[in-house]
Amino acid sequence: MRAAQLARDAAYAPYSRFRVGAAVLAADGSIYTGANVENVSYGLTVCAERVAIHTAVAAGRRRLVALAVSGPSGISPCGACRQVMDEFGVRTVILASPRGRPIAAVALRTLLPRAFTRRALRAAHARL
Ligand code: THU
Repeated sequence: MRAAQLARDAAYAPYSRFRVGAAVLAADGSIYTGANVENVSYGLTVCAERVAIHTAVAAGRRRLVALAVSGPSGISPCGACRQVMDEFGVRTVILASPRGRPIAAVALRTLLPRAFTRRALRAAHARL
């Protein structure tokens, strides 16, 4: 939560002014952070969660455990980020205030029931 709070300082959100920080805990205990990065072409915006996760993966950490996100009241990861969390094994999502205070800890399974998984892909490939 503290890492997510600190990461939020680097948020680039001149369009929404909704600044978000995220920190992901890898299975080996290391932590990677990210902040949202917006663009004048709005759809190119990347959420804090995906910046943190992709930074961890690019550093070789593919097994992730938990993710904390710090942002304004109402903060909750978008659907795309939930799917990306699932890809790398995140189990617990901690929602935190801009000051890094805990709001809730939620299982990813609760946030993303019936995720799309590689099992469906495998079955489809087996039918080819
Ligand atoms: N955003 C995040 O970075 N994470 C969230 O969990 C929710 C939304 C960003 C995307 C955009 O820069 C801004 O917040 C408003 O949608």
